[in-house]
Amino acid sequence: MQKILQSVKETVIEASKLMFDRSVEVNVKGVKEDLVTSADIDVQKFLNEALSRLIEGSVVLGEENEIKTHAKYTWIVDPIDGTMNFTRGIPHSAISVGLLVDGTIELGVVYCPSSGEMFHALRGSGAFLNDRPIHVSDRPFGQVLFCTALSTYEKRLAPICLSIMRDVYARCSDIRRFGSCALELCYLACGRVDLFFEIRVFPWDYAGASIILTEAGGRIESSGNRSFDASEAVAVSGANTDENFKKLQTIIKRHPVGGKTMREHKEFVQIKPKKDQLKKNVDYDLTSLYENAHDELTLQQTKRDQIIAFYLTLVSLVIPLSYSIEGLTPQTIAALFVGLFVIGAILGIVIIRYKVYKEVYWASCQTISQLFNYDQEKIDKSLVQSIFFEVLKKKDPAKNGRIKGAWKCLFSAETLMFEIHMIMTMACLGLATYMTTRGSLLTFILILVFFISMQFVYFASYFRVFSVCRTNQDADFNYAFGKAWFLHFYINYDLE
Ligand code: IPD
Ligand code: CA
Ligand code: CA
Repeated sequence: MQKILQSVKETVIEASKLMFDRSVEVNVKGVKEDLVTSADIDVQKFLNEALSRLIEGSVVLGEENEIKTHAKYTWIVDPIDGTMNFTRGIPHSAISVGLLVDGTIELGVVYCPSSGEMFHALRGSGAFLNDRPIHVSDRPFGQVLFCTALSTYEKRLAPICLSIMRDVYARCSDIRRFGSCALELCYLACGRVDLFFEIRVFPWDYAGASIILTEAGGRIESSGNRSFDASEAVAVSGANTDENFKKLQTIIKRHPVGGKTMREHKEFVQIKPKKDQLKKNVDYDLTSLYENAHDELTLQQTKRDQIIAFYLTLVSLVIPLSYSIEGLTPQTIAALFVGLFVIGAILGIVIIRYKVYKEVYWASCQTISQLFNYDQEKIDKSLVQSIFFEVLKKKDPAKNGRIKGAWKCLFSAETLMFEIHMIMTMACLGLATYMTTRGSLLTFILILVFFISMQFVYFASYFRVFSVCRTNQDADFNYAFGKAWFLHFYINYDLE
């Protein structure tokens, strides 16, 4: 095998010369982003001949070959990975070769001619960059650089990729998109980046790099495990450590790709028969969605508490201030106080409710587009709205634990802390008003107590926001709640 490896390395260096020694013609293969150049074709042809000569009876499964079959020995070849970069003179593309023996990749070579970097690996012998051993990093999730892409040739999948990015980004260090799957995986192998996900790649994009990554101590998996079958694209994820791999998987599973493409809104409404299938197929981590959503609601609720507490603090100043205004009776002051208090409380509740509803609604649109591969922009907003209100009308959530949970989340805006604020404020207000009307000295003390207690509540709320933010690294999870909410109602009720 060592000898074969050496020959493969020499062959790809030879092949790479074809990329640069003549002018290049660019053509479009399928969608406008899917390019093939004359260099892709030349390199492919060269490798077809040279590689099949190296092992008798071997076949070449190449991106630019018409026939894509397997044999006992199959060379999986991407003549140029990163063609878009190549056509624009961005020095970041590679020739990628993997050798599949009875369904297992045994050898991998990825060569980037512009940088002269040659990555290689043989099963059981480690991974190398320009003949120096390489190893993945040991960075924890919070410090990873995440390589990913937006499914360039299948733009309908972009919303899912974006939400996965959003979820990972909230927890990791930063994101990179270099434009060559093979090189990105090799960068992961040598510790330059630490995490990888692409929703739709073909064997030639990752076959060669996959063994380089595993030999470098990393982890890589493709969806479906179809042994580098070229008939369908797969999602591929990779990570430096098992722990980070599991974390990435948990995030990816929150964003299922299921169901059929929805073309008509009508079709969506008539989707009922597919619900059972949906229940079985959707690998949806609802518990964690609820948890995230709950955190977010707690945060929102605390924000609202803060707004109200702050507002009440201001209002409480009205009483001592109004003492200096001539002609104001204690009764007027009390009425003013109560009036301002009520307006503020109502405003606080309405604003926060509206914010929660808006985000839940937005998340529902997202869920529809992800579950049914439906173009988000084409979703009829009034349809989502009608489903949204249908769902809200459903009473009796107690029958079903999950639905109960959803309602609890949705309405937990009125929970303990707010109740305590209200009761405390009302009690202070009542006493203060009573004392004020009697003109007692105690009035001032009570107002002072009230004022101090409101300050205390205000700072307590602030502290809570701080601690919620610390435990919940994610920026905003109303959308997660919206998804859980939508899915539960969608699965459990007939929405027509
Ligand atoms: C593409 C590149 C790109 C990845 C795409 C691939 P190509 O290969 O690897 O980084 O995002 O999924 O198809 O078309 O340049 O050989
Ligand atoms: Ca490719
Ligand atoms: Ca290619």
